[in-house]
Amino acid sequence: MKLAIVGTGYVGLVTGTCFAEMGNEVICVDIDARKIEKLNRGELPIFEPGLEIYYERNRREGRLHFTTSLEDALPESEVIFLALPTPPGEDGSADLSYVLGVADQIARWMVAHPETGYKIIVNKSTVPVGTADRVREIFESYGLKAGEQFDVVSNPEFLREGVAVDDFMKPERVIIGTRSPRAAEIMTQLYEPFVRQGNPILVMDERSSEMTKYAANAFLATKITFMNEIANVCERVGANVDEVRRGIGLDSRIGKQFLYAGIGFGGSCFPKDVKALARTAEEYGYAFQILKAVLDVNERQRRLLAERVYDYFEGQLEGRRLAVWGLAFKANTDDVREAPSHVIIRKLLEHGADLVVFDPEAMANTRAVFGDALTYAPGMYEALDGAEALIICTEWNEFRRPDFQRMRNRLARPLIFDGRNLYHPKRMAEMGFEYYSIGRPHYPPHANPDPVLLASSSTTDGKTGA
Ligand code: UDX
Repeated sequence: MKLAIVGTGYVGLVTGTCFAEMGNEVICVDIDARKIEKLNRGELPIFEPGLEIYYERNRREGRLHFTTSLEDALPESEVIFLALPTPPGEDGSADLSYVLGVADQIARWMVAHPETGYKIIVNKSTVPVGTADRVREIFESYGLKAGEQFDVVSNPEFLREGVAVDDFMKPERVIIGTRSPRAAEIMTQLYEPFVRQGNPILVMDERSSEMTKYAANAFLATKITFMNEIANVCERVGANVDEVRRGIGLDSRIGKQFLYAGIGFGGSCFPKDVKALARTAEEYGYAFQILKAVLDVNERQRRLLAERVYDYFEGQLEGRRLAVWGLAFKANTDDVREAPSHVIIRKLLEHGADLVVFDPEAMANTRAVFGDALTYAPGMYEALDGAEALIICTEWNEFRRPDFQRMRNRLARPLIFDGRNLYHPKRMAEMGFEYYSIGRPHYPPHANPDPVLLASSSTTDGKTGA
């Protein structure tokens, strides 16, 4: 099939590339000329595991194209995906100007080119309930006929950054929101190769489809937030959230996934979508109480680690060197949008701390936000030199089994605040670390660290520390 993808952000690029990989001919459009130039040179603007191979192969084989001209993309395309930004406005509602603006351009083009055939306009972006209807009305306002010349479909994405390519290629479900049998048939054909293992394609009305996306993200954000609150209570009553997580996760009604307590959710979707759903409910006269609490609790949780550090040093942070491991909002991405690490960094900077940071992928994006206010270490161990504490904000795998001996040699104080529960609290104490994590007990560090434990974690000569 011939497809156009308007918007080459994270969702657009993954969508376009994966459709090309299934043999479709795809043209991606973006108004950002520099981005398109880069993409045409063979450079991907984002880091996403697995994307590069597909991108290179499909470009080479001539199935994946990039242009700044919407007009170039329209004539051939049977299905046009809108993967455009919907940033939250002041009041939390999603700003639809990009989506509606592009819809208007497409409608005008179709009127000027009556010879062009039937086209499907697909909303891939997360958009408020009712947006498909608004897009359809734009086309109708130009005299175009739904079901004959065009149809508008809601087709939300459920892509997790870091595993987006896998999520796209093997979706657990595909949601197609349309009441047009013609559009439903074409969309089903397009997605069939992706669900050959038997996962369902659900066809439903547009509003239910739009709502499904918000409900999924809001539910997941609530699930995490609930666990964060459980963790906070665990700390107070002397329970261990790891045990509680295992204990409840085995109940299939609850499920094992998405139960990890930490420093709050971030990213480009959850905060924005939770706010937008709360706002939509309000517009319709309904107060969505749980979501308000989710947002409040998440704000508090994102400040938690910074407050803990502040309290530990009794407010004396001025000029104090602290190391931060992890800047991305989660592992396997370079994305720092709404990252808890940035909330923590901002707080610590306000109190005058001297921060040395490291992240395997998100250094450039963090530098773009904080500039010279931070020191950017070339490696995870270098970040520790002379630091009086290490603060862990992202669960990158390389942080999970570090060389603890080397860490001890480099840190000015064996003190760790772990926002992702990467290590075993008791073992850390046995290795002489003062270790604080989320929702788990704190053990006083042993005065004489266990040399066997430290040596077993050591991958180099601990004395050189290099
Ligand atoms: C999310 C949805 O999962 C995806 O379906 C949707 O379409 C886009 O938004 P993403 O933002 O990439 O994807 O991240 P996700 O893996 O869902 O994590 C969101 C946040 O929750 C991260 O900040 C993560 O660190 C946090 N999280 C996740 C936890 O704190 N604990 C968990 O157990 C899981």
